[in-house]
Amino acid sequence: MVTSYEKIPVQIFGTPQQGSRFAAEQIANLIRARQMEGRKCVLGLATGSTPISMYKELVKMHREEGLSFRNVVTFNLDEYYPLEREAVQSYWSFMHRHLFDHVDIDRRNIHIPNGEWRQEDIKRHCLEYEAQIDAEGGIDLQILGIGNNGHIGFNEPGSSIYSKTRLVNLENSTRIANAKDFQNISKVPRLAITTGISTIMKARRIILLAWGFKAPIVARSVEGDVTEQVPASLLQQHNDCLFVVDEQAAAELTRVKSPWLTGEVEWTPKMIRKAVINMALKLGKPVLSLTNHDYTENGLGDLLVEKGDAYEINLQVYYLLRDSITGWPGGKPNANIPHHPERSTPHPKRSLIFSPHPDDDIISMGGTFMRLHDQGHEVHVAYQTSGNIAVTDEFVTRFLDFAVGFEDLFGIDSEKSRTILQEARQYLADKKPNQLDTDEIRQIKGLIRRCEAAATCRYVGLKEGQWHFQNLPFYETGTITKNPMGEEDVRLTMELLRQLKPHQVYCAGDLADPHGTHKVCLDVIFESLRRIKAEGDEWVQDCWVWLYKGAWQEWDITEIEMAIPMSPDQVMKKRYGIFIHQSQKDMVPFQGSDSREFWQRAEERNANTANLFARLGLTQYAAMEAFVRWHY
Ligand code: F6R
Repeated sequence: MVTSYEKIPVQIFGTPQQGSRFAAEQIANLIRARQMEGRKCVLGLATGSTPISMYKELVKMHREEGLSFRNVVTFNLDEYYPLEREAVQSYWSFMHRHLFDHVDIDRRNIHIPNGEWRQEDIKRHCLEYEAQIDAEGGIDLQILGIGNNGHIGFNEPGSSIYSKTRLVNLENSTRIANAKDFQNISKVPRLAITTGISTIMKARRIILLAWGFKAPIVARSVEGDVTEQVPASLLQQHNDCLFVVDEQAAAELTRVKSPWLTGEVEWTPKMIRKAVINMALKLGKPVLSLTNHDYTENGLGDLLVEKGDAYEINLQVYYLLRDSITGWPGGKPNANIPHHPERSTPHPKRSLIFSPHPDDDIISMGGTFMRLHDQGHEVHVAYQTSGNIAVTDEFVTRFLDFAVGFEDLFGIDSEKSRTILQEARQYLADKKPNQLDTDEIRQIKGLIRRCEAAATCRYVGLKEGQWHFQNLPFYETGTITKNPMGEEDVRLTMELLRQLKPHQVYCAGDLADPHGTHKVCLDVIFESLRRIKAEGDEWVQDCWVWLYKGAWQEWDITEIEMAIPMSPDQVMKKRYGIFIHQSQKDMVPFQGSDSREFWQRAEERNANTANLFARLGLTQYAAMEAFVRWHY
């Protein structure tokens, strides 16, 4: 039955790493098969964050399993225009950094559209690129990622199925999504050279990879109509295309979202909650108003057969929703409420909020943060990384000017400080787009963010000693690409946990986000807690972990286990708390494809959660923050 919904085969993996391993194996098998036949293997390759771990796997296979790339010919999908090859952001650099520099490929077999071509020559070069692909016998296996708007390569919505390699205009959402690799959005090239949809469709086999937050566009491409408005949906017309996705990216497929429509399911309480809430939202009815008729009409007849009358099921779900709402994130003192999300004792609690960047605490759980403090708990915040990469050069220059002015004003004459300031100002003034910051500039950027974070803690009411800057080393590469979790990251985190012995820990539960900082930050906490537990520390037996979502999304309404309401005043107070992070205001370099500022996103997200609860028939609050518990 799955296939009646899915018009492209989809293989779902538990994690992006498993999916990447699978894709790498497909490539390796093909390379080896061609080697046996004494033939070349022609690969179409993609860039972006998605295929990075697949390339890592390939490099590993080369090193450890002797996979040779001598017979491999590659054609990359695209390149920014104009952009020098050597720029760190170029796809030429990307491919060398992640793959070519680490394997034995013959450099003459590498083809990447060139962002240095003169505009008047581009047409000719594009024709040559197509001709080169044909001359190699066509692409055997094309790897693709997918943009949030459904683009493949840089074929934005509206691209024709007949399109070939050409110069294209990038959509604003694409430029915003890719701004993370540049200093800011204005530095992202407006144009790109991309192979066309017809070029992609000619590949003998296609594997499209998608992880994490791509779920809506994956579902539209696989289950929706074939339309040039969703370029990836055109792949429905290819006869050997496979989507390789992780669980998060599969979340909107009918077989995952409404599995009862595609086969038999086991009606666990979680599954019932999911089915009933989704049905209520779809029908625009409060949970308690759903009828037997609604259940049968919406493919939930089986549930009625198994569990009885609709009203009984409605009540069960309604109570779950009702019991998840509480104004007492640290538990309600002197009260015995059996289904309350948190324990009432001990009171007060020691709560530790882990914030991956210096502002995630206030953005994602500012209301809860303030409530915890106001209700007398001892709240600590651990800022896991310095966040220095997200401070613009313009912003740091403002502070350098201030420091120079301060010295002038008071006649401070320190040669060391003067040298650092002058050098930093000069460096920034002459900085090229592909240049990394000096150590000093990075430290100053980090300091700016530390001051903002401390100011937020003071604003909430915390005292010195209640905020901790971890500066986890995995983050300090000076580039967008971070290191994986290391021993030192875990050691520092275990040390802090043991020092504070919290009763409650909050952390950014961005379980998707395969390469991002949030995921590493989360892995570090999970690993630290598991080790502490294994080593038998007593306090950890009773330490609860609550996951908030990072700045990008909210938990699905069907998953939320603790919802903390906010009054209109608290919403305003949170807004001002976010404003303290001035370096992140106006120009937000890492906002994904969403151009709203952080405070706007936070407010809309919290209002949206409150509205969803109200639509389901619960009390209408102004805003709500949401949490899911992690058991370990
Ligand atoms: C990359 C490319 C793009 C990306 C897409 C997703 O060569 O052509 O189509 O695959 O923009 O990007 P990430 O993987 O960064 O989410």
